[in-house]
Amino acid sequence: MTDRVVLVTGAGSGIGAVIAAQAAALGDRVVVTDVDAAAATRISAQLPRSVAMTLDVTSGEQVRAVVARIAREVGPVQVLVNNAGVASDVPFGRLPEELWHRDIAVSLDGAYHTISAVLPGMIAAGGGAIVNVASVNGLTYLGNEAYSAAKAGLISLTKSIAVRYGDRGIRCNAVAPGTIATPIWQQRMEADPMVMQRAARWYPLGRVGRPEDVAAAVLFLAGDGASWITGVTLPVDGGLLAGRLAMADEIVSSAESFEPGPQDEDR
Ligand SMILES: NC(=O)c1ccc[n+]([C@@H]2O[C@H](COP(=O)([O-])OP(=O)(O)OC[C@H]3O[C@@H](n4cnc5c(N)ncnc54)[C@H](O)[C@@H]3O)[C@@H](O)[C@H]2O)c1
Repeated sequence: MTDRVVLVTGAGSGIGAVIAAQAAALGDRVVVTDVDAAAATRISAQLPRSVAMTLDVTSGEQVRAVVARIAREVGPVQVLVNNAGVASDVPFGRLPEELWHRDIAVSLDGAYHTISAVLPGMIAAGGGAIVNVASVNGLTYLGNEAYSAAKAGLISLTKSIAVRYGDRGIRCNAVAPGTIATPIWQQRMEADPMVMQRAARWYPLGRVGRPEDVAAAVLFLAGDGASWITGVTLPVDGGLLAGRLAMADEIVSSAESFEPGPQDEDR
């Protein structure tokens, strides 16, 4: 039993809901928050010792009020999981300004608000753990420019907090998931029912991810087993960022078609 106070943002759906469930299964008191109040209530109702609170992470005022309420009603936040995120699916040249700002407001400004709000309590308690749900998009170009910029910013913020607050016992890490089948993909899955199967071909492990894959990594980084790990971004991506076999094969096979040079003749 871990019995920590765990705040998860965007926990009414997908990855956040599974993070909340896995934390609750460990014995934590989980505060299930989401901008969608009904979704937060529905998820929380399935979990022991959990409470639901409505929270739009883009509002600093709301975040501060919810963190204060958690401290009063549950206890000071010991683990913060910044999971809320939205992804605009419009190519850069046609991306409206408001969608650029929206993606950054949820993933990056949201984490700024929550981290700022929980830090004083964590410092007073002598420590705490923060895990940010970033994305492979924050580490390499895969489209979704606004979303990617937000996640790259979140990875930078992860390192800043880790370094600045390490001596207060606060650890801050991130996970960078690859494609995970969740409602965030709904629009694309409606437009192309095969999108997950096509995405799977790019993954060395031959499948897209499950929310459970990400939640397990988040809870590892939040837990004592990771007590000497801070400032890292752990890809949870089925090997996507490790490299491209198709590219390697293409280059090797074209090299093989060359006439051997003098240095190759002894091989
Ligand atoms: N699914 C993927 O392929 C994938 C890949 C990499 C990273 N991620 C990241 O994982 C996280 C969870 O995504 P998911 O796939 O579970 O998506 P999801 O759409 O199922 O869940 C996201 C949740 O965030 C909530 N949310 C949206 N705006 C919010 C706001 N302003 N304040 C609070 N909550 C808000 C939504 O209501 C929803 O419940 C996101 O940060 C996402 O960027 C997802």
